[in-house]
Amino acid sequence: MNEFSFYNPVKIHFGKGSIEHLRKELPQYGKNILIVYGGGSIKSNGVYDDIMAILNDLNMNVFELSGVEPNPRVETARKGIEICKENQIDIVLAVGGGSVIDCSKLIVAGAKVEADAWDIVTRKVMATEALPLATVLTLAATASEMNSGSVITNLETKEKYGWGSPATFPKFSILDPSYTYSVPANQTVNGVVDTMSHIFEQYFNNATNTPITDEMSEGILRTLIDVAPKALKDPSNYEHRETLMLAGTIGLNGFLALGSRGDWATHNIEHAVSAYYDIAHASGLAILFPNWMKHNLQVNPSRFAKLAVNVFNIDPTNKSEEQVGLEGIEALSAFWTSLGAPNRLADYDIDATHFEEMVEHCLVYGPFGNFNKLEAEDVRKILEMSL
Ligand code: NZQ
Ligand code: ZN
Repeated sequence: MNEFSFYNPVKIHFGKGSIEHLRKELPQYGKNILIVYGGGSIKSNGVYDDIMAILNDLNMNVFELSGVEPNPRVETARKGIEICKENQIDIVLAVGGGSVIDCSKLIVAGAKVEADAWDIVTRKVMATEALPLATVLTLAATASEMNSGSVITNLETKEKYGWGSPATFPKFSILDPSYTYSVPANQTVNGVVDTMSHIFEQYFNNATNTPITDEMSEGILRTLIDVAPKALKDPSNYEHRETLMLAGTIGLNGFLALGSRGDWATHNIEHAVSAYYDIAHASGLAILFPNWMKHNLQVNPSRFAKLAVNVFNIDPTNKSEEQVGLEGIEALSAFWTSLGAPNRLADYDIDATHFEEMVEHCLVYGPFGNFNKLEAEDVRKILEMSL
């Protein structure tokens, strides 16, 4: 393992009815609260009403920002920052999936500086301070509820970048699995693909002696392969939803990266693709990840073979590690396809027209990927394999 320091201050309230924790948690921050949410799912599934009833009891001054887009836009965060500055907001409550939470992270950081929000995303301005942020999670996928990261899109410049700061960890997050019953099948699949991809990003590392995080990763992957089809068949099954929810949170709250440094190249390439075509993050990952794997199989075939045997049940008898690894990658593709995830850019009518811009976008901070450094040529190849 590598030496490491670990810091994650997010308090999690998990389980049915955990929204009630708002009653004790919120008053310590003040009276003025900004609720941030997306396109309205929280109004049709009752989550909004649950929250408003509590805020009403607490006598809080409620401000609202709705309409946060999937792949949240910097313009929307700017609106939220303005509301915070004009109304002396004490705490921001993000209610939704990763997009709403990520947008809220930029709002709480932007509210503390004079600079434009995009300068925070592009790291020209460091977010060292932020308003308090809390979240009510409604979609299991990104783990944004328990990390400090945020991914923001600027459609004008066709850029999408991740950023983060210790100041943007939520103070607390409410995770009630029953709030995810209404997540439609395609978004449930997206959540599973994203969670599995986060695990892969961290699993493909160059540290040695990582049995604890390897076992945790492989165990969560096997569990997702077992539970995802059941959750799709029975979307209001509490136990399946709670399994997916905890998997999503652990997938990217830092636990799986203890003692190693994950790769993260595929996420970087995917952000470049969705900046151009505004496709769902996990759809891009479902297309790109198997091709990143094939492209990098030779870097450490035994790592791919270990994944294939321990997660996808591939029989290694009389086969080379490359062969076993490849069969594992094919089993992964087959699993994602069986859930209904896309597997070609062509599924979204995406061709090679903007590949050069995407390559440039990916390389904005130079060659990237910690398991294997990718140069422009490698990115081009992975995109071409994904056509
Ligand atoms: O907008 P609403 O009406 O809420 O509908 C959303 C949205 O249309 C819907 N939804 C959410 N909860 C629901 C629900 N529909 C019915 N019932 C519910 N309970 O689902 C749709 C997608 O929501 P979104 O928040 O976009 O999905 P997700 O959580 O997958 O977030 C994706 C974003 O997170 C970023 C991605 O790049 C993308 O922009 N990521 C953030 C990360 C982080 N902060 O750590 C890491 C990830 O790798 C990822 O990059
Ligand atoms: Zn992701």
